Amino acid sequence: MNGPSDDGMAQSARPTTSRRGIMRRVLTFGGLAIVALTILAACGPEVEKPYTTTSPASPTAESIQSLYKLVFWLALVVFVGVQFAIVYTALRFRRTRFARRRPAQIHGNTRLEITWTVIPAVVLLIILIPTITTLYDFDAAAQNGDLEVDVYGKQWWWEVNYGEDERGEDLDVWTANEIVVPVGKNVVFNLQSNNVIHSFWVPRLSGKLDVMPGHVNRLSITADEPGVYYGECAEFCGAQHAWMRFKIVAVPENEFYTWINTMRAGNVGTTNPDAELPEGVTRAPEIFSVCLACHQVNGLESSAAIQGIEAPRTNGPDLTNLACRETIAAGMLINNPENMALWLHDPGAVKPENYMATVIEEGTLDEQQIQELNEYLFSLQPEGGCVIGESPDVPSGASSVGSPVASPAATPADD
Ligand code: CUA
Repeated sequence: MNGPSDDGMAQSARPTTSRRGIMRRVLTFGGLAIVALTILAACGPEVEKPYTTTSPASPTAESIQSLYKLVFWLALVVFVGVQFAIVYTALRFRRTRFARRRPAQIHGNTRLEITWTVIPAVVLLIILIPTITTLYDFDAAAQNGDLEVDVYGKQWWWEVNYGEDERGEDLDVWTANEIVVPVGKNVVFNLQSNNVIHSFWVPRLSGKLDVMPGHVNRLSITADEPGVYYGECAEFCGAQHAWMRFKIVAVPENEFYTWINTMRAGNVGTTNPDAELPEGVTRAPEIFSVCLACHQVNGLESSAAIQGIEAPRTNGPDLTNLACRETIAAGMLINNPENMALWLHDPGAVKPENYMATVIEEGTLDEQQIQELNEYLFSLQPEGGCVIGESPDVPSGASSVGSPVASPAATPADD
């Protein structure tokens, strides 16, 4: 079909592989690909993403986001550049059907070798410098907090103890899983564990930090805006690792101290069935003394369970103002009387292998006792009602759409 032709003819007959033609084709396909990707990326419904890593709400998360963007854009430039070069070279220098000889075979080019060694080195340096600076900034922020909060990773929940605030006062308040912090203050979390390694992670507020035995890791978090920020354990730590959720509730400073005061006041009461009840003292059901081997209620007579790092593994969450918490079992169940009854009935069926199930199993508590406990537990709230969360008559969270907690049934949500 080519007919007889000499080499010169074959070399010149390359109408479709001109430099400009190739450029045009590469640019057209590249452009189409970018448009298609943009359209695809914009698809999908707007959903609430409580664990999003791309919506920072603190200076720490903001710096992580900046690094992420830097790496992303550099990687994109490298990717596009390399792909462009591959496609261009393949088209421009390929052996066409008109060519009778193989294209020139070139091995080694010092200038190119140096170029593609230097460019990656420069790219890595551009990433390395701000990364190291950011790490040192984090470290500096964790040195001087406005508020110290000890966090103990337990199996499988988080125990929280408020320490010194910026006035130098030891707040000494214990709670679990729902951590209230003053907005705009540098809260330093002292992360520790007396069991296995966990990882404390609130994606919108900070990066992950390990919670390990024998060493205290300090993490600084300053929430820019009031709001609820969801977190979870990010290191596999056993059967219920997935249900080791928590949240940070950032509120204005005055509200924070109102909350602290209600936690300090606690729930004054007694488990003694014969005790006289002066005003403001609640009578806890007698069976609650079983709970007090592992749980604590601030203000309740005979409440003396060990907390913190010294506590045995079977130690459970502090129950002070429990009725105000949104969830029980570390984010697994919405805190309402039905779920509490399920839990008290057989905690091991709801959250297998949890330590409460080593003491309470099906049949340990009868219906009467469960009802008494339920009534008492939902009476554990401040006199003037909950400062954070809602009053227990209206179980909070049950109607909240998209919150990362289970549905009111005992079955875990599949999110
Ligand atoms: Cu604790 Cu995973």
